[in-house]
Amino acid sequence: MENVTYIDHPLVQHKISMLRKKTTGTNEFRTLVEEIATLMGYEALRDLPLEDVEVETPIETCMTPMLAGKKLAIVPILRAGLGMVNGVLSLVPSAKIGHIGLYRDEETHEPHEYFCKLPNPIEQRTIVVTDPMLATGGSAVAAIDFIKQHGGKHIKFMCIIAAPEGVKRLHEAHPDVQIYVGHLDRELNENAYICPGLGDAGDRIFGTK
Ligand code: PRP
Ligand code: URA
Repeated sequence: MENVTYIDHPLVQHKISMLRKKTTGTNEFRTLVEEIATLMGYEALRDLPLEDVEVETPIETCMTPMLAGKKLAIVPILRAGLGMVNGVLSLVPSAKIGHIGLYRDEETHEPHEYFCKLPNPIEQRTIVVTDPMLATGGSAVAAIDFIKQHGGKHIKFMCIIAAPEGVKRLHEAHPDVQIYVGHLDRELNENAYICPGLGDAGDRIFGTK
């Protein structure tokens, strides 16, 4: 599928396996989510635009590439997407951060928005949307709908675990969005949880139940 990248790096795969274990506690879970986000971010940001700028080295003046344009925007889908922010920020500390608050209705599994605040001018920024889980795809599609309604154009979506249904739905709704997936799991169960998955990512990151 064009615009869908599966991150097959052994470190990412190992850390995802650690995340899956039900004995992995909150502290370790948070650290792993952050580390995976950094490793995935390295891959997802490989096409950031560069421009040559003049730099004086101790030896001579030269033209050398640096990141071009407006600063990157990282937009976590609340809550669980927050767990990935620091991981991406460690690569681009000057990034701006937006927030989109969505929760899944427990009956219908459809997302509901409760908060949206994005850095301006959003249309000039590369936007990295983060959410560890892409299940039905409803939350990711809704979040990216909002970002586009606010003018966002250059959008990447990073998730740690995806179900095939979610990748398909997101790609069909937003074929222009570059999707980065840490691991593609088997399927969704009757409660729209990813199998084998890791359970509820938000609860495991924040220690709630
Ligand atoms: C989880 C997850 C995604 C969403 C994925 O969030 O973090 O945002 O479900 O499911 P979908 O692809 O079927 O929409 P949840 O609604 O549980 O909220 P939380 O992050 O606050 O726990
Ligand atoms: N959200 C989660 O946190 N986990 C799933 O498996 C599906 C949606």
